[in-house]
Amino acid sequence: MYPISRSSARLNLRELEIEDVDAVFAIYGSPEATEHLSFEARTREQVRQIVARSIAAVSETPRTEYALAVTERDSDELIGFGRLALDPHQQRGATIGFALRPNVWGAGYGAETVRLLLGVGFEDLGLHRIWGARSPLNEASARTMTAVGMVEEGTIREHVLKAGKWRDSVVHAILDREWRAGGP
Ligand SMILES: CC(C)(COP(=O)(O)OP(=O)(O)OC[C@H]1O[C@@H](n2cnc3c(N)ncnc32)[C@H](O)[C@@H]1OP(=O)(O)O)[C@@H](O)C(=O)NCCC(=O)NCCS
Repeated sequence: MYPISRSSARLNLRELEIEDVDAVFAIYGSPEATEHLSFEARTREQVRQIVARSIAAVSETPRTEYALAVTERDSDELIGFGRLALDPHQQRGATIGFALRPNVWGAGYGAETVRLLLGVGFEDLGLHRIWGARSPLNEASARTMTAVGMVEEGTIREHVLKAGKWRDSVVHAILDREWRAGGP
């Protein structure tokens, strides 16, 4: 499906553009924003490649990658990055990822972003199950996913190799019927 476009009270979700590289770098290049992610802070060139790959992936058939810009409706500024990746080994399932620029944290944008992404997954793409994997130390992510009705399901042991060390992931997920009912 292309293009994705959704709005909430304060945010828009839209397709990425190549002009977004610097704004995405402000997130993916930040040690603070990537502290609990599965990768270390990226260079600007790595971010440029990610954005370019994400743009190229929109025309794949079927489309499995939905890397989206989160923008503030008031300022039209890109303040976050959201991603749904359809799982080729699971029917109508996808993983979710999201990150916001640190200077906007704590204002409810995280939960608003995840709701927008779940709306895309369940309402636009007709998915059955959406899940996210977080670091056990990522309390902000745990609270954000819980706030939107994603249930903590368990731990994947030594799921992520980061800085030469294996790290567990905690899985949170939500089903289509739970989304339609407004939460589990
Ligand atoms: C996770 C993230 C998106 C949350 O964004 P945010 O805009 O600050 O979140 P919200 O303001 O919507 O808050 C959502 C919930 O998380 C809680 N929360 C936010 N930051 C927190 C923190 N540092 N510690 C504990 N709880 C926190 C809020 O209190 C709220 O909980 P509540 O609904 O129980 O009150 C943001 O911290 C971020 O971008 N982190 C870096 C990337 C990342 O870790 N992404 C998740 C990958 S799995």
